[in-house]
Amino acid sequence: MIVLGTDKSLSPELECFFGGAMKDFIDLRSDTVTRPTPAMRKAMAEAEVGDDVFGEDPTVNLLQEKVANLLGKEATLFVPSGTMANQLSIKSHTQPGDEVIIESSSHPYNFEGGASAALSGVQFQCLKGVRGILEASQIEEAIRPADHHFAVTRLVCLENTHNRGGGSINPVEKMADIYRLAKSRGLLVHLDGARLWNASVATGIKTQEYAQWADSVSVCLSKGLGAPIGSLVAGSKSFIDRVHRFRKMFGGGMRQVGIIAAAGIYALEHHLERLKEDHQNAKRLGVGLKEFKGVSIDPRHVETNIVIFDIANAGMTAAQVAEAMKKEGVLIHAFGKSQIRLVTHLDVSAEDIEKALKVFEKVFGKK
Ligand SMILES: Cc1ncc(COP(=O)(O)O)c(C=O)c1O
Repeated sequence: MIVLGTDKSLSPELECFFGGAMKDFIDLRSDTVTRPTPAMRKAMAEAEVGDDVFGEDPTVNLLQEKVANLLGKEATLFVPSGTMANQLSIKSHTQPGDEVIIESSSHPYNFEGGASAALSGVQFQCLKGVRGILEASQIEEAIRPADHHFAVTRLVCLENTHNRGGGSINPVEKMADIYRLAKSRGLLVHLDGARLWNASVATGIKTQEYAQWADSVSVCLSKGLGAPIGSLVAGSKSFIDRVHRFRKMFGGGMRQVGIIAAAGIYALEHHLERLKEDHQNAKRLGVGLKEFKGVSIDPRHVETNIVIFDIANAGMTAAQVAEAMKKEGVLIHAFGKSQIRLVTHLDVSAEDIEKALKVFEKVFGKK
């Protein structure tokens, strides 16, 4: 149940002020629905600020430094969204007419409004991965020959964890294989690491270790970490200099934005380790859902905080299930006709998960 983050001791007046329309629901639609906790809001209110377009916001500078260290990269740049972070990276790596190799259910290809075609003039070559994960051999086959008939293959985009792949973790060895292949063929690699934090917490492998296998990395503070806004792009100094130029061009330069960066710093310091709880909650959902009629799920595929399952044999569409669940106080995300996605986060407790499973049982019935 959404109770304004982890502090459950707010006065009714504050609850009323901070709570939104979805306050009384168990909201499993996305990890982007979290609201800043009172402690995070306090950090935001007290943030030292300056004009970040002049590079003078000390809180933004601190956040950029922190994330550069966490990713083992020379530099980072704070941007408003994960979409902008990905698109700035693609723009900065490519020329119009270039080709980008990307997984077919990836975020930049499916959910960024066709931005790469519109803003960078690139074409995607989409390859199907196993739950979003590509092999180096697939990429090797897809690289275009040096012939004037073909687009120039310039960039490979990876996603870790993979959203549409059900929060799947791209193993660090597979990333290393792809990076080595890319370097041997003169290609660049961008990692959409919106949820790289989840991969790192789930495996115990440091974010730097993943990030070393990409030339650029985008990360989000506004997903599982619970900040209201904010993403960063990381890479070499010269790459980030290019990103900076395009951020201006895309209208992403912000002013006294330390107020938001403070939420990101707070999230990194207080909400990183607790992602484990989200993973446990997601696993519990995976195991529980398996018991219900018409639900098809392999709980072993629940690796982080996302649960995707199929209901083709349940006698209802995903939209009908979402509607039935909503009537009982649980919000879920219908993907197409017969797939449902659930995402665990800061604002759902283990107790909420048990309640949600009871509602699923009511809707589907026990096997
Ligand atoms: C994997 C991935 N990349 C990028 C994004 C885009 O982030 P934003 O919504 O901040 O633009 C999302 C959003 O959910 C995502 O799941």
